[in-house]
Amino acid sequence: MIKIALIGTGGMANAHARSFQEIRGVRLTAACDVDAKRVAGFAETYDIPKTYTSVETLLAEADCDAVSVVTPDSWHAPISLQAIKAGKHVLCEKPLATNYPDAKKMADAARRKGVINMVNFSYRNAFALQAAADMVASGKLGEIRHVSASYLQSWLTCNAWGEWTTSPNLLWRLSSEHGSKGVLGDIGVHILDFASYPVGKMKAVHCKLHTFKKARGNKIGPYKLDANDSAFLRVEFANGAMASVETTRFATGHINSLFLSIHGTTGALRLDLDKSYTEMEVCLGEDRHSQTWKTVKCKKTPSIYQRFVNSIRSGEVDQASFARGAEIQKALDACFISDAEDRTVKL
Ligand SMILES: NC(=O)c1ccc[n+]([C@@H]2O[C@H](COP(=O)([O-])OP(=O)(O)OC[C@H]3O[C@@H](n4cnc5c(N)ncnc54)[C@H](O)[C@@H]3O)[C@@H](O)[C@H]2O)c1
Repeated sequence: MIKIALIGTGGMANAHARSFQEIRGVRLTAACDVDAKRVAGFAETYDIPKTYTSVETLLAEADCDAVSVVTPDSWHAPISLQAIKAGKHVLCEKPLATNYPDAKKMADAARRKGVINMVNFSYRNAFALQAAADMVASGKLGEIRHVSASYLQSWLTCNAWGEWTTSPNLLWRLSSEHGSKGVLGDIGVHILDFASYPVGKMKAVHCKLHTFKKARGNKIGPYKLDANDSAFLRVEFANGAMASVETTRFATGHINSLFLSIHGTTGALRLDLDKSYTEMEVCLGEDRHSQTWKTVKCKKTPSIYQRFVNSIRSGEVDQASFARGAEIQKALDACFISDAEDRTVKL
């Protein structure tokens, strides 16, 4: 039996709890949140026997082999480092940290301690992304030249996830003081992993960020609305490919849309997660002359939660490791420098 404790019991923790409870041989033994009422309600919903309002007490007392860190971003590094020190395996939410030095510290600490360490780049759960990575590696697309990727949300212009002006769980995402790195840190992190996982190592980035005026004095209660809302990136890969990557919370009409197309010298593939997580379209070989796209059913692959549990059992870290989380964090830090200095930044 693998015993897991959840730290942070807000919105995303529901996905963690449901996913772990579906896995045979896994038990949720404890939950922790600074909000006592929230953790109590959460524990009741998922039948979790012990609750805590302090991470220190949980780590000292709870019966667990591993923790899932599902707090706001700025807490990922301090809590994960404490958990690693206590010898726990850690699945940490994305972004791994709020800057590269912290992310690297986490990756180094986990490696030294020998604990399983994974970051929840959850779109790796899409069978289609895994199939895309396999197809690029197989060489069927030839040499990769051009990549186009976008992650579009619109919760600043619609109420599908609640009214952002009055929801603390959305407002912290707009405020640097509350540990947010804006749309770039929130979902830019996903699309950078999504685009570069199949294509390979990133060599340089050029980025333009923009923060729109959203309220009087750009402030709502304690939340200063200074974090970026839109990001446009040009990415250069070590293999010579070029990518255009964009993300925004102002894509009215798209609540949570990811697109990726990868074009090589002998073929191309494209993913549209609004249409399917399990299929992709390909244009290969002779079909490229007639621009004929065919739909491919992708083979089933494990979720990150299942991979985390498998890794604890096998002792081998699966995707996506803290080292990978740190690599993406390095690219995010470079984006902020690029935006501030309007120049390409090498990674
Ligand atoms: N992988 C994904 O696709 C995905 C999707 C959504 C959110 N996330 C990530 O999950 C994390 C949580 O997001 P959310 O939407 O659940 O936020 P949320 O605001 O709904 O929940 C965060 C919870 O953490 C608690 N908390 C804050 N500080 C804490 C601390 N020091 N110790 C313990 N608990 C603490 C809060 O009280 C709250 O209940 C974020 O890092 C976010 O980026 C990932």
